[in-house]
Amino acid sequence: MSTLYQKVADHISDQINNGLLQAGEKVPSVRQCSAELGISMTTVIRGYELLQDQHLIEPRPQSGFYVLAPFEKSAPPEISQPELTPSEVNLDELAVRLLQTSKDKNIIQLGTAPPQTEVPSVKLINRIMIKVIKDDDSIAEYDPPPGNENLRRQIARRMLNAGVNINPNEIVITTGCQEAMTLCLRAVTKPGDTVVIESPSYFGTLKAIETLGLKALEIPTDAENGMSLTALELALREWDIRACILTPNFSNPLGYCMSDENKQKLRTLLKQTGIPIIEDDIYSELSYSTQRPKAIKSFDETGANSNVLLCSSLSKSLSPGLRIGWAIPGKYLKQVTQLKVSNSMAGATLPALTAACYLEMGIFDRHLRQMRRYYKEQRDYFLHLASEHLPKTTRLTHPQGGYVIWLELDEGVDSMKLYETALAKRVSIAPGPLFSASGQYKNFIRVNYGKASKSDLEKAMITLGVLLS
Ligand SMILES: Cc1ncc(COP(=O)(O)O)c(C=O)c1O
Repeated sequence: MSTLYQKVADHISDQINNGLLQAGEKVPSVRQCSAELGISMTTVIRGYELLQDQHLIEPRPQSGFYVLAPFEKSAPPEISQPELTPSEVNLDELAVRLLQTSKDKNIIQLGTAPPQTEVPSVKLINRIMIKVIKDDDSIAEYDPPPGNENLRRQIARRMLNAGVNINPNEIVITTGCQEAMTLCLRAVTKPGDTVVIESPSYFGTLKAIETLGLKALEIPTDAENGMSLTALELALREWDIRACILTPNFSNPLGYCMSDENKQKLRTLLKQTGIPIIEDDIYSELSYSTQRPKAIKSFDETGANSNVLLCSSLSKSLSPGLRIGWAIPGKYLKQVTQLKVSNSMAGATLPALTAACYLEMGIFDRHLRQMRRYYKEQRDYFLHLASEHLPKTTRLTHPQGGYVIWLELDEGVDSMKLYETALAKRVSIAPGPLFSASGQYKNFIRVNYGKASKSDLEKAMITLGVLLS
C-alpha cells in the first residue's frame, strides 16, 4: 500500500514519464495539486519533496516547482570477457582489509555491502530480542542443525513467493549465506575440482572457492541478462565441471536479474549433465518491482531430490548482524547437515529465536516495501550524481534490485590505486580485481549506494570525480 504523499509523487512522475510535463515546465502548484487530488497541502509538499529527492523537479524561489531535464543514462559495461580456463583463486588481503575499515565512522563507506539498518523496522529487532531474552529459557542452549523449527517454517513460507514449495525439514539454518554457500560447495566438490562462476563474481564466493582449494572457471556475464548460456555450454563441453555457483537475482556486483526463460534454460542445461547448481538468493527480496523474482530452484521438479542447492540469509533484507542464513540443499541435505556440525556444531540460539519472532509478526513485507522504494530512490540519486560528477565515458549498470552498482572507468584507471587515494580522502570503494579469480577488472569499481546518506553520497562522488579527472 502506498502512502498519500507517494500517490502525489506518482501522479506527477507519471505525467513527466508520459511527456505531459516536459523539462523546464512548471509543475501544478501545491494548492492546485491539493484541490485536484483532494489531498492536504502538507501531504502534497511531502510528495514534492520526494520528487526533488528523485531529481525529477526543483523549486525556484517565489515561482514554484519545475521539471528537471532527465540525466543522460550512461551505457552499461559490455559483456565480460574472462579467459575460459579454470584458475586457482588467490585474492590477497584486500577483502579482509575492506571489511576491517568498514567500521570506521570517519570514512564514507561505499566499499562493502551492508544494507541500510538505520530504519525503525530494523531497530525493532532490539525490542524483540529483549522480549525473547525475558521470555525464553532456551537461549543458553545449543540450537543444533537443522536449526530452529519455527524459523524454518517461516522461511519455507517465504520461499513460496520464489516459486519454491518445500517442507521446513528441507532447510538447514546457517551462520549467514556465506556459511550456507561454503557448506554447499563442500558437499558437492572436493579440493582440485573446477566450479563455474559468473564474471565478475562476489568476492565471498571467490574466497570460499580459494579456501576449499577449488578452481574457478569464469563465464562471461552480461550486466542485463546474466551468465552467458552459450559460453557455459562451451565450458561444459571442454572442462570437467563439478558445480555452478551464481546469483541469478540482482547479482553482486552486476545487479542483473536473469529472465525466467534463461533460468529455465540454465536449469535444463545443467540437469542434462548432472551438475549441481548452488543458487545464491540473497538479494531477491530487494527487487524494485512489486514481486520478488523466481528462484532457479522453482524450475526444478525433483523436490527433495533436487540438485539445486539454494542459499540465502536475512543479511541484505533485514540485518547482517543477526547472521541468520539458510541452505535448501535438496538431495545433499544429509551432507550439508553433517558439514554444519563439523563446521560450527550449532547455530546461535538468540538470533534464531529473534528472527523467527520477527518473521512471525507479519511485519517483514511492509519493511521490504519501504526498503525497495528507498533503494530505488538511492539508485536514481546515485545515477544522477554519477552523471554530474564522473567522466562522461564512465559506464554503469542499472540495477533493478539490491543496492550495489558496477562502474567501468576509463581503461587507463587503476582501481587499486584509486582505492588507496580515495581511502586517503576518506571514501571507501571496492576495486574491480576483488571480483575476479584471474585479476581482471582493473578499471572497474563496485559501489554500495544503499547505506550512505544522500549528502555523504554526494561528497564521495565529488571526491571520486576529482580523482578521476
Ligand atoms: C552475493 C552475496 N552472497 C553472500 C553474501 C554473504 O552473506 P552473509 O552476510 O549472509 O553471510 C554476500 C554479502 O555481501 C553477498 O553479496
